[in-house]
Parts: sequence; C-alpha cells; structure tokens
Amino acid sequence: MSRAKRKLDHIEHALETGQSRASGFDDIQFIHRTFPDISVEEVSLSTDIGGLNLSSPIFINAMTGGGGKDTEVINRQLAQISNAFNIPMAVGSQMSALKDKNEMDSYKVVRQYHPKGLVFANVGSEATTDQAKLCVNMLEADALQIHMNVIQELVMPEGDRDFTGALTRIEQIVKSSEVPVIVKEVGFGMSRETVYQLKEIGVNFVDIGGFGGTNFSLIENARRTRRMAFFDQWGIPTAAAIAEAKAVSGPVHVLATGGIQNAFDISKALALGAEAAGMAGRVLKWLNEEGEEQTIQQINDLLEDLTMIMAALGARNIKELQKVPFILTGEIKNWLTERHID
Ligand code: FNR
Repeated sequence: MSRAKRKLDHIEHALETGQSRASGFDDIQFIHRTFPDISVEEVSLSTDIGGLNLSSPIFINAMTGGGGKDTEVINRQLAQISNAFNIPMAVGSQMSALKDKNEMDSYKVVRQYHPKGLVFANVGSEATTDQAKLCVNMLEADALQIHMNVIQELVMPEGDRDFTGALTRIEQIVKSSEVPVIVKEVGFGMSRETVYQLKEIGVNFVDIGGFGGTNFSLIENARRTRRMAFFDQWGIPTAAAIAEAKAVSGPVHVLATGGIQNAFDISKALALGAEAAGMAGRVLKWLNEEGEEQTIQQINDLLEDLTMIMAALGARNIKELQKVPFILTGEIKNWLTERHID
C-alpha cells in the first residue's frame, strides 16, 4: 500500500473509531469557590511556554500531510483555523516529503496560510539530524516534534519492527536543532520514567500524548485481518500521564494531548500542571462533520468556556489555573496512588 493511501486510510479510520472518554479527566473534580473575587474581563488566556508565545493554551496537533491533494486541502483548512486564533499548528509526519519531493506542497501550504503563527515540524525517531533540519526548514518551523509510535508500528502489518537507538538519535537532533524539540507520543501516554529519560538527553518539551482519545491500535487493527486486540486497551490515560510527567523535577515543559475534547478537559489538564493542550481527532471530526467555519465557531466557544471555567475558579491566568485545587477519584486516583505520585 502506498504511503499516501495509508495516510488517507488513517483519516478515515480515525473518524470511524472516534474518541473514547478513557482519558481520565472525568476522575478530576474542581473544588467550587463561592468567592472567586474576579471579573471575567481579568481572565487572560495568553501564555509563554519556554519562549513559545501562545495567544491561548491550545494547539492543533499533528495529523496530515503526504496524502496528496486531499491532505493538502485538510492542511490548508487547519492552517486557516490556526491562523484565525493565532494558535500553533503541527503538521503530520514529514518523512514522506523527504522521500518524495512531490509531497512537499501538502505541508508547505501550512506556512502559506498560517504565515506568522507558530508551526511545528514533525518527524519520526528514525530521522537523522540532517533530515530533521530539512523538515524544519521546509516550513520555517518554530519547533520540531519527534513522534514515538511503537504500538502503532507493531499493529501495522507493514510497520517497523526495530526500535533500537531512538533515544540516541533524538539526543543528536536535540544537540544540533536550532528550534525547540518536542518529543511526542501518539495516544499511548508517557510514564515518569520515559520523561526522565528524555530530560536526561536534554529534551525540554514533552507532549505526553495519552490514552483515551484517538486510538492507533483500533485504527491499525481495523486495517488488519488478524487483530491484535490486546493493544486496544494499552496505554497511560492522559490525566495520569500528565501527573507522571510532572513528577519529574526539572525544566521540562509538559504539553497535554490525547482525548482533549472540550474546555473542561483543557482546564483539568492545566490544573494537573500541563502548560498547553493539543487536539487532533476532535478538530478533524468537527472539520469533517461541520466544515471550516463551524470548526472556528467550536474553538471560539471552547475558548469562551475556558474563560468562564477560569473565572469560576478565580484563576486570572494560566499560571494560576495550574495551581487550583481539585479532587481525584476512580481510576486516576488509583493509578497515582499505585505509582506514589501526589
Ligand atoms: C495523527 N497523529 C499523528 N502524530 C504525529 O506525530 N505524526 C503524524 O503523522 C500523525 N498522524 C495522524 C493522523 C491522524 C488522522 C490522526 C487522527 C492523528 C497523532 C496525533 O497528533 C495525536 O497524538 C493523537 O491523535 C492523539 O490526540 P487526539 O486525536 O486524541 O486529540
């Protein structure tokens, strides 16, 4: 199967399999304040994450590219949406553009329609330092995402089978990169141990890409005849993964993704200590079912909801939201107790 066809397959199956609510955010409850002593007008959503300035703490995460004209159209729409809010947008894996120059346009369209905004390049951990640089230059990107998708590769019949040396290659890219490097999972979550390994090789940004949203085991199993169903429930729920990452001391910026569906999820992700939250599957679903204009409206509503939630919590800015108290219940409470994370 060609790469382009596989990319289109992923979009179709991602829309079909949809998003579960297994991210763990329903196990977090804010403590209501009767006297928040704040005016809604005082709430500011803007934030700075290690030098990356965001107008609000959200971004559109890596999805498409390399699927020919169809993905070019989606990328143009996603870039226009990102531009409307001046929020960062990550492109899908650019490895295919390195192999086939004809595919470059489906990525370059992002910089064209999001000319002054933050754009994140995206490669796999098989990339060399030179390939990583080419991908950053292709988009004049402001940061580089390196994705880790071991479970997806294992379930994919034509997927990689050798995962050795990834940390060493990532370390080399970090050393030579002129833009911040974000190492990301794709829906199976990062543990405290993983984030510690990344910190030790100099990675300052992690996108914990937790379980509970788009599920690449389900997506790849849908494309197989002999299913590997045991991977369908595999992974660290997003809420637990944020807490795992925050348990690592030091200068690591934590981005929360995996099953982020609304402002309530975002507020909880930030209260757990994340600095921003990214959405992939939910934005794709809006775009597919409601079109570009309605997707802009959805994000507009989401930002308004986030402002209201912050006002209720008395949080004037993202730093204050990161400190609000909450109660943990259910699976996430068990998870953090078992892992001795407070
Ligand atoms: C993705 N994702 C992804 N990630 C990545 O780093 N490179 C890629 O090329 C892709 N491709 C891709 C295609 C499609 C159709 C989807 C839905 C997703 C993964 C994505 O960035 C994110 O990590 C996961 O989808 C989990 O977030 P959501 O979807 O639950 O918000």
